[in-house]
Amino acid sequence: MTESSATFLLFGATGDLARRMIFPSLYNLLSDGLLPDDFLIVASGRSEMSDDAFRADVDAALHQFLAAERYDAATAARFGQMIAYQPVEAGKPEQFAALSERIDGRLERGMSVYLSTPPSLFAPTAQGLAEAGLITPKTRIAMEKPIGKDLASSKEVNDAIGRLFAEEQIFRVDHYLGKETVQNLLALRFGNLMFEPLWNATGIDHVQITVGETVGLEGRVSYYDGVGALRDMVQNHILQILSIIAMEPPARMDPTAVRDEKVKALRSLRPMTAETAKTHSVRGQYTPGAVGGQIVTGYADELGKPSDTETFVALKAHIDNWRWQGVPFYLRTGKRMPARQSEIMIQFKPVRHSIFGRDGHGSGLEPNTLIIRLQPEEYIRLLIMSKRPGLERQVHLEEVTLDVSLTAAFAGQRRRIAYERLILDLLSGDQTLFVRRDEVEAQWAWIDSIIDGWKSANMKPSAYSSGNWGPSSAIALIERDGASWHD
Ligand code: BG6
Repeated sequence: MTESSATFLLFGATGDLARRMIFPSLYNLLSDGLLPDDFLIVASGRSEMSDDAFRADVDAALHQFLAAERYDAATAARFGQMIAYQPVEAGKPEQFAALSERIDGRLERGMSVYLSTPPSLFAPTAQGLAEAGLITPKTRIAMEKPIGKDLASSKEVNDAIGRLFAEEQIFRVDHYLGKETVQNLLALRFGNLMFEPLWNATGIDHVQITVGETVGLEGRVSYYDGVGALRDMVQNHILQILSIIAMEPPARMDPTAVRDEKVKALRSLRPMTAETAKTHSVRGQYTPGAVGGQIVTGYADELGKPSDTETFVALKAHIDNWRWQGVPFYLRTGKRMPARQSEIMIQFKPVRHSIFGRDGHGSGLEPNTLIIRLQPEEYIRLLIMSKRPGLERQVHLEEVTLDVSLTAAFAGQRRRIAYERLILDLLSGDQTLFVRRDEVEAQWAWIDSIIDGWKSANMKPSAYSSGNWGPSSAIALIERDGASWHD
């Protein structure tokens, strides 16, 4: 880690992510005294706008997206004074020159650039920065997903950025890594003695990772169609969660040690083929239905035309290494699901020998289950066997829950926006929670194998009514193996 950047340069400053997440996060950091003295935020977008007009927009965004009790007029005024607005469009060197003037004299104290723009602008923006002399060894660059749409295009983006920045200066954002509950997976696995000895094919029957959303397209038609759930959610967020669940213990909590282990797990994912894509994957697309009592339209209706883009995907993945041999990882994510629910479920194996009759038959004996709820609630629940009180001669067992509600345990602590953690780490140069180039590429390599499998097998999305956990084939995918989704 090095000294904190004194300047934050944001591209895409008038966009949705900036309004919802980035400015509220910066504001929270300022109000907690976590931004360096004399911090400057240079916001840039395509529209012409004065500093004051832009500051008023940011203030409106703070009102809209911060919890009411967080907004403090004096802090907001101080925050506004830190912000300058500069119109900049890729390919317009005179605008980059004007930008450079605004930042004049500050580069020595470090600058973090944040690209919250469509990915097609990443390379031209970085080029513009280089030509304006804004890249020094103390400049860092953060990029939002998607980095490419397949392995080849992600390499192009990484090459283009890599020509101008060293890997140590590049911060690839996966906002799931900024979530407290995702970071807590490291604490659960490596800060407790009792899980790790069982965390392998000897102790675990299978793993489920579910990220369910109730929302539909939400006006993101131009981005989402042609991308779909596999690229939008599995390629990044779900595979990052999987890598943390599956990796070997890193020697220490530092960016190289942690990311070395994650990439090894990602590289061990067994590629799909046309054959396995048919049996190990399900694509779905939502049709009209009801979510939370509200009638909603179908994807094609929202889009205004038929489409082959999936809004739901379920996969059975295998990690071909010593630890996970024969342990399926069932992954699923979708829009217009019955509930917003992200969780990991670890299904342990049955006890080695049942003393409660043959295979525990009739006694209620079940294997243990660990549920790690990431959102909206935050809890860890371990289902363990207990004797039902009573005088019956045959012991009756029942599942009881060891329940750790993180929300209750840390009730006094404010839940942070994932971006607060990530921006703070970017400013201070800590890459642990950012995705390294080899990780993104390993993720794409596996995703490409699925997309190729879908193409060869001519697999189109099956319909599911909004408000369901995907098409019925998603249930069959897991039930064929004698397991079922944890809903
Ligand atoms: C984004 C996806 O990366 O993550 C969106 O592009 C999705 O489609 C979002 O809705 C989900 O994030 P969160 O933090 O709400 O779970």
